[in-house]
Amino acid sequence: TTTSQELLLSRIRDVQDYPQPGVVFKDITPLLADPKAFTVLTDALTELCVRHGATKVVGLEARGFILGAPVAVRAGLGFIPVRKAGKLPGATLSQAYELEYGTAEIEIHAEDLNEGDRVMVIDDVLATGGTAEAAVELIRRGGAEVAGIAVLMELAFLAGRARLEPALRGAPLESLLTL
Ligand code: PRP
Ligand code: MG
Repeated sequence: TTTSQELLLSRIRDVQDYPQPGVVFKDITPLLADPKAFTVLTDALTELCVRHGATKVVGLEARGFILGAPVAVRAGLGFIPVRKAGKLPGATLSQAYELEYGTAEIEIHAEDLNEGDRVMVIDDVLATGGTAEAAVELIRRGGAEVAGIAVLMELAFLAGRARLEPALRGAPLESLLTL
């Protein structure tokens, strides 16, 4: 591990039994509150956008907004929010996905994506991969290409990477930390 990874890891707090008994929640608020760590994170994600030739940044509500917006500004790219259903006022594309119990739905403004766009999807955590998979579908349905998915951390025991693999179609899944 590099010193950057150690810094990031040291600013992620484990919260036992949240939001349910048996779950260990990965709380990134200490990282966000530390300007050095937040800058290291923003720089690392920005570098991935450049490396993979992104032309747009998509952030996944809500924590992907916090991470993705400064990356978009730093990379000089437009930011597109993928929101939970019912929050976007314009013409949207919607994608449902499975949760542990029930389903969820996310949306994007269709007009924000254009043919020829290469979109980097940014979020804090890859867990089961359901959210990221739905975001990939939205981007493709909007006529754009997926430059990659970049997350702060990947929870390896939930095997999101394997689940996402077919949907990625060769696009990179980059995680700064594998936990
Ligand atoms: C969390 C996390 C990721 C997603 C990962 O978001 O921020 O977006 O779950 O889970 P998955 O890989 O199993 O789909 P959540 O919707 O819980 O809350 P948020 O609005 O705080 O980001
Ligand atoms: Mg989230």
